[in-house]
Amino acid sequence: MAEVKLVELTKKFGDITAVNVMNLDIKDREFFVLLGPTGAGKTTTLRLVAGLEKPDVGDIFLDTNKVNSWSPAVRDVAFVFQYYTLYPHYTVRQNLEFPLKSNLRKTPRAEIDKKIADISKILHIDHLLDRQTVNLSGGEMQRVAIGRAIVRTPKVFLMDEPLSNLDAKLREEMRAELARLHIDLGFTFFYVTHDQVEAMTMGDRIGVLNEGSLMQVGYPDEIYNRPKNMFVAKFVGSPMVNLLESEIAGEKLIIGRREKAMECSLNAMQCKIVGRSKSKNVFLGIRPEDITISREKQPGNSFKCSVYFKQSMGVEDILNLKFTDDLIFKALAPPRLSIDVGDSLYATFLMDRAHIFDAETEERLEMPK
Ligand SMILES: Nc1ncnc2c1ncn2[C@@H]1O[C@H](COP(=O)(O)OP(=O)(O)O)[C@@H](O)[C@H]1O
Ligand SMILES: [Mg+2]
Repeated sequence: MAEVKLVELTKKFGDITAVNVMNLDIKDREFFVLLGPTGAGKTTTLRLVAGLEKPDVGDIFLDTNKVNSWSPAVRDVAFVFQYYTLYPHYTVRQNLEFPLKSNLRKTPRAEIDKKIADISKILHIDHLLDRQTVNLSGGEMQRVAIGRAIVRTPKVFLMDEPLSNLDAKLREEMRAELARLHIDLGFTFFYVTHDQVEAMTMGDRIGVLNEGSLMQVGYPDEIYNRPKNMFVAKFVGSPMVNLLESEIAGEKLIIGRREKAMECSLNAMQCKIVGRSKSKNVFLGIRPEDITISREKQPGNSFKCSVYFKQSMGVEDILNLKFTDDLIFKALAPPRLSIDVGDSLYATFLMDRAHIFDAETEERLEMPK
């Protein structure tokens, strides 16, 4: 069993609040991903769990133990850093053995050999055991760093952007391998990243962090399909969600300027707006894949636009569509439609997939569907 529980956790550095009243429950054997931009407080959170920083306020529990005053060594967590922290002139085997030889754990030789054989096989580094780590590639070094962290079977495995220094192809391979490793090992993983694709593809659950505060915690599907606020909506999804200045006026949603606006019926959204007022400034959030493209006008919320810009991505084209000079948005189209810049076409908004955010608070306004 290895649960991590953070209660009202707060850490300040001078005027900066790196972690701000964080409450979080990570379940036994869960792959939990903390996602946020640079400076959000991700590393500080992991360092607090590891015991490398002391909280100003709040408690850290590993299982039922409050570990605030425990030293890093006795917390029994393993840490993989963004930058490999290997001993360069040691061999891979020596690097892997190192944590087993500490004074705290006097592991018998036979057990060390067996562990290293098992771990190096899982990580596909068994052919590298006698090489000096200084001669390894980035991907190999990171595997050794991961191996060194897991070789002593920690309670919790903390990983701080371990893939961010790898090239794109290797990063993609390692994502799948880490997810697989998590299944094979059955440890609790607490993984932080600024990369939303990593979070969405690897996390059992995701916490979105901004300026030290947790914005939302949920399953990847919840984070993507029911973002609690504009920050979460913007941070997850590529191409980014369209956020269109709009106004609620009675039963209608008016998107864009009043002189030439798109008008949608709010009833078509199959959701209620909390505190619907005569007039309220909001943002309509609609993902590019929730806008369909056609040459003919469609029933429903179908608006005539011109193609302003096109990016071909192979499987799909990203279109920038212009309704008016100040109402331009992105939609996806299959390349077989052979759409060109300047074409005139219809964009149909799938409003039952859209979100409405209060323009002032940036919080989502919809009721559950
Ligand atoms: N040792 C430190 N001294 C002063 N400020 C720090 C220290 N560590 C982190 N910070 C600040 O705390 C905030 C969060 O940092 P960090 O946890 O490293 O964010 P992230 O890992 O999400 O990029 C940042 O504003 C950073 O500058
Ligand atoms: Mg960091």
